[in-house]
Amino acid sequence: MLRIAYVNGRYLPHADAAVHVEDRGYQLGDGVYEVCEVSGGRLVDERRHMARLDRSLRELRIRWPMAPVALGVVVREVVRRNRVVDGLVYLQVTRGVAPRDHAFPAAAVSPALVVTARSIPIASRDARAAKGVAVITLPDNRWARVDIKTIALLPNVLAKQTAHEAGAFEAWFVDGEGFVTEGASTNAWIVTTDGRLVTRPADTGILRGVTRTVLLEVATGEGLRLEERPFSVAEALGAREAFLTSATTAVTPIVRIDGKNVGDGRPGPLAIRLRPALRAAAEIAPAWSSPPSQPNI
Ligand code: PDD
Repeated sequence: MLRIAYVNGRYLPHADAAVHVEDRGYQLGDGVYEVCEVSGGRLVDERRHMARLDRSLRELRIRWPMAPVALGVVVREVVRRNRVVDGLVYLQVTRGVAPRDHAFPAAAVSPALVVTARSIPIASRDARAAKGVAVITLPDNRWARVDIKTIALLPNVLAKQTAHEAGAFEAWFVDGEGFVTEGASTNAWIVTTDGRLVTRPADTGILRGVTRTVLLEVATGEGLRLEERPFSVAEALGAREAFLTSATTAVTPIVRIDGKNVGDGRPGPLAIRLRPALRAAAEIAPAWSSPPSQPNI
């Protein structure tokens, strides 16, 4: 099937979809992005992803490339044209095209928008979660504004590659005090031996994951004992369970950290139970061709 990408106002075959050589995203990493899950042809937690996009854009003083409602239409159209039933949609906004200069270009420069979508079989994701994944730990060498979802992801790229070369699925970043911040592309959680669910607060050091936010709501609704506080690698190794969350992995159990078993080395029961509970709590937006009637933010 022919894949289609949206690039600055046009729906193009992937092979012909390209950005300008002086796109500031390409040259300077000067842009932001979102990844939204598609389930049954519908967008999962679109409202929250758009709200986070709005925050990222504001923090970097990049204008919306179009009205939020119009972006909702484009995103749906890309999902529809690619016949994505289960998978993800990726959208990226950069500060636009201008002669290379570190400082911002003139205000008249329009932000550039790219939207792509692709299918990811549910079965492969579920099989991975059923088995559990391994993580390694690495020093967190990222900048101080990881709360902004920028496309400048080189430390994350290198960490993920190191993890893969070590036979692990994810790398957990560890701050200067020995506390886990988050994964290269996921948030980090543990369940203590006495059943408390622990994840780092989203004020410093991590991206406020949409999946994390929804899961916190689920946990609160279920009356689970919840602690938003940093945890160390040693505490995670001694924990009953560990897991990671993101739009593309949902809740995925972690069974090994740096080659050592977590708990009994099998996916933990709470993580297994929270995976479908998360889906039940997610906001599923109208299907393919029905854009939202209200702005998303
Ligand atoms: N990653 N932390 C980081 C550094 C991330 O890049 C992501 C998302 C998350 C989880 O956020 P959410 O629950 O909103 O997906 C946490 C996306 C999936 C990616 O870069 O592909």
